[in-house]
Amino acid sequence: MERILIIGAAGQIGSELTVELRKIYGNENVFATDLKEPSEDIKNSGPWEILDVLDVKRLVHFVIRHKITQIYHLAAVLSGNAEKIPMQAWHINMEGLLNVLDLAKEIEDVKRIFWPSSIAVFGPSTPKDNTPQTTIAEPTTVYGITKLAGERWCEYYWKRYGVDARSIRYPGLISYKTEPGGGTTDYAVEIFYEAIRQKHYTCFLKEDTYLPMMYMSDAIKATIQLMQTEQDKITVRSAYNLGGMSFAPKDVAEKIKQYIPEFTIDYKPDFRQAIADTWPRSIDDSVARRDWNLEIDVDLDKMTKIMLNGVAEKFGKKLRF
Ligand code: NAD
Ligand code: SER
Repeated sequence: MERILIIGAAGQIGSELTVELRKIYGNENVFATDLKEPSEDIKNSGPWEILDVLDVKRLVHFVIRHKITQIYHLAAVLSGNAEKIPMQAWHINMEGLLNVLDLAKEIEDVKRIFWPSSIAVFGPSTPKDNTPQTTIAEPTTVYGITKLAGERWCEYYWKRYGVDARSIRYPGLISYKTEPGGGTTDYAVEIFYEAIRQKHYTCFLKEDTYLPMMYMSDAIKATIQLMQTEQDKITVRSAYNLGGMSFAPKDVAEKIKQYIPEFTIDYKPDFRQAIADTWPRSIDDSVARRDWNLEIDVDLDKMTKIMLNGVAEKFGKKLRF
C-alpha cells in the first residue's frame, strides 16, 4: 500500500494532483502539506498539515511517523517571482529538493520521488522548435538554473545511491481551480479570468510569443503515469521533455473571441518577456511517449471551453460555452 506525501499541495498543481492521487490511493493515504492552508476540498477529504520543506527535522519526522513510501515535492519559487528574489529562490528550490533526496536515501520506506523540472532548463542557445530531449541547456534565469541543477542532482542520487527520483520538464500549465504562482506562462490562465470578468486583457507577453503549454489534467495524467511506470522502463533520470501544445497570446485571444466576440486584448510586455524569449517554442516529447505511453487529450479549442466554463462557474456566472 502506498502512503504519499505531497509537498506544496496548496499550489496550482498540488491542489489538483492531491485530489487525483486520493482517488487512486485512498483519501487517508495521501498527505497534503504546504506552508499555507490548502483548499477546503483538500482539507475536508484527507490528512493535511502545515509543513516547511526547509524544516528538515520536522520533514524527516513526518515521513517516519506516517510511513511515507512516495513523495511528490512540488514546492518552489516560479520563474517570474524568482527573478525578484534570486538568492532566496535558489535556497528554497535547491535546499528543498536536497532535503527530499537525502531523506529518500536514508529512509528505507521511501521508494519513489517525483520532482518537477521545467522548460526553463533551456536557454537562448537551445534549438527553439521541437526542442530535443538532449540538447544545449544554458538557462539564463535563476529559476532555470535551479531546475537544471535539480535535474543533475536527481540523476546523481539515482546513480550514486539508487534513489528512484523521477521528473518531467513541465511546459506552462493551464488550469482554473487554483491560480498560478508567479510564472512566465501565467498569462495563459489570467486571460480567461479577465475575459470572464471584464472582456478585456492586457497581456504581459507580446502577441506572437509561442511557448509550450499543457492543460492541467494532461499534466497530472502524465505525472501519475510516469510514477506508475516500472523502474526498468525509465531511461531518463534527469527529467523527461513534455510538449503538449504550442501557442501564442494572439492564438488564445482568437479562440476566446469565438466564444466571447466582444473580447479585446492589448499588449504591454514586462520583464517576463525577456524570460519567455529564452525558452523553447515547442518541445519534442517522443522519449516520454516511447518510455511510458504519454498521451495528450486537450487541445487549444477544448482547453478554451473548459477554462471559460470553469472560470465562469467560479464567479457564479450562468454562462455556458
Ligand atoms: P505554485 O507556486 O502554485 O505552488 C507551490 C506551492 O509550494 C505553494 O502552495 C507554496 O505555498 C508552496 N511552498 C513554497 N515554499 C514552500 C516551502 N518552503 N515548504 C512547503 N511548501 C512551500 O507552483 P505550481 O505551479 O503548483 O508548481 C509546482 C512545481 O511544478 C514547482 O516545482 C514548479 O517549478 C513546477 N512547474 C510548474 C509549472 C506550471 O506551469 N505551473 C511549469 C513547470 C514546472
Ligand atoms: N510555468 C512555469 C513558469 O512560468 C514554467 O516552469 O515559471
